[in-house]
Amino acid sequence: MIRASAPGKLILFGDHAVVYGEPGIATAINKRAYSTACELDGKKIVVESKDTGETTECGIREKSKNPIIAAVQEAQKFSKSRSGIGIEINSQIPIGAGLGSSAAVATATIASVATLLTGKEPSTMEIAEMAYKADKLAHESPSGIDTAVTSLGGTIFFKKGNISQLDSEPLTLVVANSGVRRNTSDMVLRVKNSIRDPRVALSMFSIGSLSKEARTILLGKRQGDLGPLMDRGQSLLKDLGVSSTSLEDLVQLAKDSGAVGSKITGAGGGGCIISLSDNPETLIQAFKESGASAYSVRTNQPGVRID
Ligand code: MEV
Repeated sequence: MIRASAPGKLILFGDHAVVYGEPGIATAINKRAYSTACELDGKKIVVESKDTGETTECGIREKSKNPIIAAVQEAQKFSKSRSGIGIEINSQIPIGAGLGSSAAVATATIASVATLLTGKEPSTMEIAEMAYKADKLAHESPSGIDTAVTSLGGTIFFKKGNISQLDSEPLTLVVANSGVRRNTSDMVLRVKNSIRDPRVALSMFSIGSLSKEARTILLGKRQGDLGPLMDRGQSLLKDLGVSSTSLEDLVQLAKDSGAVGSKITGAGGGGCIISLSDNPETLIQAFKESGASAYSVRTNQPGVRID
């Protein structure tokens, strides 16, 4: 039996624009998904999620859009083994909230299954490649930023086909959840349908430029200066049509409670916003008083590992 874990993620800059080749910045957080793999008799894959209470079963050669099954099958291909596999998932990452739950579970599963079947741990780059292949089967045109950061960890500067680690300091950010679950593929498709509009194309370019500015700030260890860039990022994401009344209300509340910057993280439509504040505890209290679930997270955390 092998247990692996991978971190959740925040997209700091570049949400959606990374799908169109613009750069983005993503960071691994201190909430993790755990996947335990064991070999099973019979040509089947059985996935049990301790968080949702769901069990899914599938033949080892059966095509599936389930991201965990797709992850197991990629790891089997890599390992040149077709043994039956049982998976148990435990995760600290909320589902459908833009914090990378799906990518973290897939990444941890690939690491646990490939290590179990080959007897040695694949490199993080090999895991990232397998996780991206599995993600492509399960989601609409993913850029690969989610699976790259849940595999590599730290804080990455990502441009399709080109990933580098940013030598930056960990940050404390406040996450507030709108409580509205959304589906990343639906949001990516919605944006794709408007990409021929020149204003949308221009917004993508501007989002990419913010990522470059943010990289300079992070490398200069001037994290406190990120706030205004987060606000500009939020305004561009609103123009793309991926914000919502409940997300805008959270952004306004953050501003009224002293945050220096706030934005959606991930696909939007629901899910979470992230805020930078000199007083994270005061901000968390303000969110909680308004009825939103909120907590602080640390960025720049380790990537996938065998536990
Ligand atoms: C989702 O976490 C991030 C998006 O940019 C989609 C993607 O990059 O695949 C919205």
